[in-house]
Amino acid sequence: MRVAQIYTALTPLILAREILAQNYTNVTTSAVPSSTTVNGTAVANPSAFVTNLQLSVEDLWDFFVGPVDTANTTTTIEATPVPSSSLIPPPFIGSYGFPPGRQVPLVTKNESWSFPKDFYLGVAGASFQIEGAARADGKGPSTWDVNMHRVPGFATDNSTGDITDNNYYMYKQDIARLSAMGINAYSFSIAWTRLFPFGTGPVNELGIAHYNDIIDTCIQYNITPMATLYHWDMPALLQNQYGGWLSEQIIGDFTEYARIAYSRFGDRVKHWFTINEPIVICTSQYPMPAGYWRNFSIPNVEQPFVCGRNILLAHAEAYRLGKSIIPDSSITFKNNGGYKVPLTNSSADAEAVQRAWDFNEGWFADPVYLTGDWPSTVNDHVSSFLPPFTSQQKQLILGSADFFAHDAYTAQFYMAPDAGIESCVANASNPLYPSCANSSYTYGPAQGSWIIGPAADSHSPWLHRATDWFPAFMSYINTTWPSPHIQITEFGFAEPFESSKTLLQDILWDPIRTSYYHDYMEAILISLSEGIKITAALAWSFVDNLEWNSGFSVRFGLQYVNFTDPALERHYKASFFEYTNMYQTYVEK
Ligand SMILES: *[C@@H]1O[C@H](CO)[C@@H](O)[C@H](O)[C@H]1NC(C)=O
Ligand SMILES: *[C@@H]1O[C@H](CO)[C@@H](O)[C@H](O)[C@H]1NC(C)=O
Ligand SMILES: *[C@@H]1O[C@H](CO)[C@@H](O)[C@H](O)[C@H]1NC(C)=O
Ligand SMILES: *[C@@H]1O[C@H](CO)[C@@H](O)[C@H](O)[C@H]1NC(C)=O
Ligand SMILES: *[C@@H]1O[C@H](CO)[C@@H](O)[C@H](O)[C@H]1NC(C)=O
Ligand SMILES: *[C@@H]1O[C@H](CO)[C@@H](O)[C@H](O)[C@H]1NC(C)=O
Ligand SMILES: *[C@@H]1O[C@H](CO)[C@@H](O)[C@H](O)[C@H]1NC(C)=O
Ligand SMILES: *[C@@H]1O[C@H](CO)[C@@H](O)[C@H](O)[C@H]1NC(C)=O
Ligand SMILES: *[C@@H]1O[C@H](CO)[C@@H](O)[C@H](O)[C@H]1NC(C)=O
Ligand SMILES: *[C@@H]1O[C@H](CO)[C@@H](O)[C@H](O)[C@H]1NC(C)=O
Ligand SMILES: *[C@@H]1O[C@H](CO)[C@@H](O)[C@H](O)[C@H]1NC(C)=O
Ligand SMILES: *[C@@H]1O[C@H](CO)[C@@H](O)[C@H](O)[C@H]1NC(C)=O
Repeated sequence: MRVAQIYTALTPLILAREILAQNYTNVTTSAVPSSTTVNGTAVANPSAFVTNLQLSVEDLWDFFVGPVDTANTTTTIEATPVPSSSLIPPPFIGSYGFPPGRQVPLVTKNESWSFPKDFYLGVAGASFQIEGAARADGKGPSTWDVNMHRVPGFATDNSTGDITDNNYYMYKQDIARLSAMGINAYSFSIAWTRLFPFGTGPVNELGIAHYNDIIDTCIQYNITPMATLYHWDMPALLQNQYGGWLSEQIIGDFTEYARIAYSRFGDRVKHWFTINEPIVICTSQYPMPAGYWRNFSIPNVEQPFVCGRNILLAHAEAYRLGKSIIPDSSITFKNNGGYKVPLTNSSADAEAVQRAWDFNEGWFADPVYLTGDWPSTVNDHVSSFLPPFTSQQKQLILGSADFFAHDAYTAQFYMAPDAGIESCVANASNPLYPSCANSSYTYGPAQGSWIIGPAADSHSPWLHRATDWFPAFMSYINTTWPSPHIQITEFGFAEPFESSKTLLQDILWDPIRTSYYHDYMEAILISLSEGIKITAALAWSFVDNLEWNSGFSVRFGLQYVNFTDPALERHYKASFFEYTNMYQTYVEK
């Protein structure tokens, strides 16, 4: 469906079709198009539009992206009941009544462990990775639409988000399938570009209606909806207009977007995440690919920290606004990173570990939970190019979270650089500068140089099944950044070689992911038994999806999807049954 939505207040950015068609990195306000079209009609005197050019959402798509693929299902499909035959767990999961002669496990249940009754057994997903329907119902293009279409090699398999899981039309069935498995919380993200096709300006009511129905469907199935405002899909126009997170202008636009989301959904959504994984946004998504976006002359090495500063301020503003609009809400941002283990007991490695925390989690967690300001190591680094936070800004940031949300997948060893920390900190050419913390996936030679845990798919080299470290991790978070409770807002595993398997039945038995979920749930139970207040587990992800730059070649789903079959049917994997089985075994009755 096409919505001809016209936006008349695009200044200061004036887009000119001819210049954009050649190279839209060089658009300036003085550009005069020789001809242009508005609303599909050729305009005779285009200079009339130089200071007040009207652009439809379709124009934006044509400028930034071009044609997109569409799914074969482009209307919302109703949920059909999940057949009971799909809900039979694989043998050995959830059933310990083995016939005589079979192997009997030593321990079936540890009676000193339990999940509280109100624990969230949840799953997570993100708009760009699952929705598809890229140009539908008035949605504007995001940076991910542009980069995946335009930048050669941006995704290792050349994939785009045009269709992916087609969740935009299949969400009712997706939610019904979660409910059938006993899931009680669904963490989804809202596409900014569906609510505001231009990032700012007019609100697209079709986008509002879509998320309204997702929320209502969750409630219909007794699933608690949890909404993330920003899971990486920056409106393309804001990126091109002022650099997205690189400009303080984003703070006002993000807060306005948050205001609309809170005020339209807040009667039913009480659980909010402002921004997903700011560390990843600022260190891996900036700088944007060269030649595709306007360059705002911020040196590449400074961009992550400029981004981090604006994200903290935008988060804090959005947090304060959310609490005023929805007083009974719980709001935070999603931090991320693995547990950091010193490679040796040397004091240099201990210092490297501290620097690694500072330049990852602490970069965002210290200001929000501890001081209103960055760790001193980070401040030392940025003081030459960023203004310090004012005391008013510190006050705004400090305490801008109701709990601690962490995407906690794995663990890694850290050690001092070869040149030593001091010399690295003084040498911007050191490849580890500025964190100056080296890292490794393997134990030291004294421990046999074993890897920290079984490896995930080779497309996700950062990920290992290292759940042994989880209780120490939670204890570290609890004591370092005190908060009323902790939620594990993402955790999950990419089964090695899954995308090269060809038989459906082989794919559905995912042994390493299954053991990951088993061990991870035990690790949460151990933390709970130690008195750490963990209130949610949100598995990543409820379905195979578009894994960003890795495309469809790496799979994190608890459900399988065949992306070459237009029906995009979902199938539960064994790991999904293990995940819910662990919960059912241990939840207080
Ligand atoms: C973009 O602008 C720069 C600086 O003004 C200029 O050197 C370059 O040729 C322009 N590129 C295009 C494609 O017009
Ligand atoms: C463009 O189309 C919309 C919707 O049909 C209409 O309201 C608007 O006046 C048109 N604008 C121009 C400049 O023709
Ligand atoms: C991606 O596209 C490029 C350019 O069209 C092509 O050379 C390459 O083989 C493609 N890669 C894959 C995995 O399809
Ligand atoms: C934009 O222009 C620059 C400089 O001329 C060039 O290197 C780059 O490839 C162009 N980008 C696109 C998308 O055409
Ligand atoms: C953008 O501008 C900065 C600062 O002038 C420069 O360091 C950087 O190389 C430029 N990037 C591109 C892609 O031109
Ligand atoms: C570090 O010290 C602890 C406690 O003394 C010891 O258990 C551990 O094995 C040591 N680790 C290494 C890598 O030497
Ligand atoms: C990081 O550690 C690896 C493995 O020990 C080593 O090969 C590499 O040189 C180190 N990098 C730096 C910059 O110190
Ligand atoms: C800085 O680091 C680079 C890269 O590791 C190295 O080549 C250079 O010698 C170092 N400079 C000093 C002064 O240590
Ligand atoms: C049961 O859990 C407790 C508390 O975490 C632990 O100390 C004990 O070792 C566990 N027992 C078994 C058999 O795993
Ligand atoms: C969690 O942290 C608080 C605050 O530092 C501390 O009082 C409490 O003992 C910690 N709980 C556990 C189980 O470590
Ligand atoms: C995926 O779908 C394609 C096209 O329908 C089919 O050829 C292939 O066998 C399917 N793969 C699996 C694992 O079901
Ligand atoms: C989409 O394609 C699948 C597989 O070819 C087919 O079963 C289904 O009926 C199609 N759906 C629509 C709406 O055309």
